[in-house]
Amino acid sequence: MKILRSPQEMTAWSKEQVVAGRAIGFVPTMGFFHEGHLALMRRAGELADQVVVSLFVNPIQFGPKEDLTAYPRDFEQDQALAESVGVDVIFAPEPEDMYPAGFSSTVTVGEELTRQLCGASRPGHFVGVATVVTKLFNIVRPDLAVFGEKDFQQLAVIRRMTEDLNLGVEIIGHPIIREQDGLAMSSRNTYLRAEEREAALSLSRALARARKMVAEGELHTERLRAVLEEFILSFAGTVVDYISFVDQFTLQPVAEVDKDTVLALAVKINGKVRLIDNGFVMPLHER
Ligand code: PAJ
Repeated sequence: MKILRSPQEMTAWSKEQVVAGRAIGFVPTMGFFHEGHLALMRRAGELADQVVVSLFVNPIQFGPKEDLTAYPRDFEQDQALAESVGVDVIFAPEPEDMYPAGFSSTVTVGEELTRQLCGASRPGHFVGVATVVTKLFNIVRPDLAVFGEKDFQQLAVIRRMTEDLNLGVEIIGHPIIREQDGLAMSSRNTYLRAEEREAALSLSRALARARKMVAEGELHTERLRAVLEEFILSFAGTVVDYISFVDQFTLQPVAEVDKDTVLALAVKINGKVRLIDNGFVMPLHER
């Protein structure tokens, strides 16, 4: 496995692959790998000849009060884990390589997809994500890229951007990987102390509860939302950022649950760790 630091080296390597007729699968990440990241890497390996993983904690997608400096990092462990799933290249640039002095261009995806959900409490976040992913696509030049459905709004934003700007990369969504008890895996779970870990279960439990109510015939999203809010707040230390029933394609809120409805959740635990989760609420056989 190669470790490349500069965008120039990365692009030179990719050009060699193109000449050799090899397809490149790409997984952009911010590191501190868990099974969710590794599943994306394995999928890329099944779909392409070569797998590139970028490891870059992107400063411009963090707000001024967010956890950029605290974001967990362990390059050696990440290297070993990536190697264990057959990754060919880790691209790990420094912030100065990605944003040299004078950098001033950004990519903005329309408000229909970025204003609500995480966009409402994280202004500028999706500009940061869209900009870095565009840069990474241009540097790595992949044929396909794999993203997790855990970041459901991010996936929708990247699909839109890739199509709108003719980036020519096939975008593959991967299902959420969870801990045994249902908690969606996240690098941010390492911030949770034992009792906060319990509160973190409120998200996946709320999803299960919503599915049960829907299966029993409750389709009215405002009534569902009220029940879920009370349920989530019954866990110690939780503050709800949003509980939204949205269309999987448009991300617009819906009044009644149907087969395309996704329940998206963001909850803050003890005012410090913000966790997200999401999923379809109609039982599979009705979708
Ligand atoms: P990061 O949070 O490191 O996530 C990298 C990729 O792993 C994303 O596509 C994310 O959706 C996916 N992922 C994270 N947890 C997952 C889980 N439990 N199951 C399945 N997939 C999961 O998302 C980012 O980094 C950044 O915003 C990035 C796209 C790299 C741009 O900086």
